[in-house]
Amino acid sequence: MSAGKVPMARLDRLLANLGYGSRREVNALVRDGRVVLDGVALKDAGAKVPVSPDLPARMTISGKPVDPPAPLTILMHKPLGVVCSHKEAGRSVYELLPHRWRARMPGLSTIGRLDKETSGLLLITDDGPLLHRVISPRSHVAKRYRATLDRPLGGDEAAVFAAGTLMLEGEADALAPAVLEPLSPTEAYLTITEGRYHQVRRMFAAVGNHVTALHRDRIGGLSLPDDLEPGAWRVLDEAGLAAIFA
Ligand code: URA
Repeated sequence: MSAGKVPMARLDRLLANLGYGSRREVNALVRDGRVVLDGVALKDAGAKVPVSPDLPARMTISGKPVDPPAPLTILMHKPLGVVCSHKEAGRSVYELLPHRWRARMPGLSTIGRLDKETSGLLLITDDGPLLHRVISPRSHVAKRYRATLDRPLGGDEAAVFAAGTLMLEGEADALAPAVLEPLSPTEAYLTITEGRYHQVRRMFAAVGNHVTALHRDRIGGLSLPDDLEPGAWRVLDEAGLAAIFA
């Protein structure tokens, strides 16, 4: 967005797209004086309002800050035991977000996926171009995982992963080079730039080991904040977005 140019949207459409209800329902909110912008109750649901990232600081709905408008990106500490897809059975990461957000337009999607039994840094966004930029192998955005292993490292894994020749079972292309940093005989950081299905678990399986616990702590230059508990999330600000590609 160029400096000084704030996009405008019709109030009823904005609130409907944020999940506050049908056009009829949001009209009723306006009529009841529950939509306040800069301290003034708005009277016309068809009025154009500015849609800037600071909208939640300026607008309230029934006394509460309005939800952040699109484009919105969430940084979540994904807990163990929840899935990243609407289609998979079980509790999903979307259930950890406000219920109203399921009706947002555009909808939210995870940027890549973590397995049900993987914890750590997960990004969720309604920004399609951002999503594609992060997951595209051409962007080379590194993802760092901390893996706990069943058996001690043998010593040659770092060279095997770095070679860029490792083939995973059933795949036609070799994996891009990856960086292994041992932390103890049975723990290591593994940094990869692709996002193939179960990639980290399959890489260790390919060298005769087995991952017993997996946690992602970094995407690009963005780290999982130490003070973000499993299941907690926050809106990613401009600096956080820039850190992904730093
Ligand atoms: N690799 C895996 O095996 N699982 C994940 O969740 C992420 C990367």
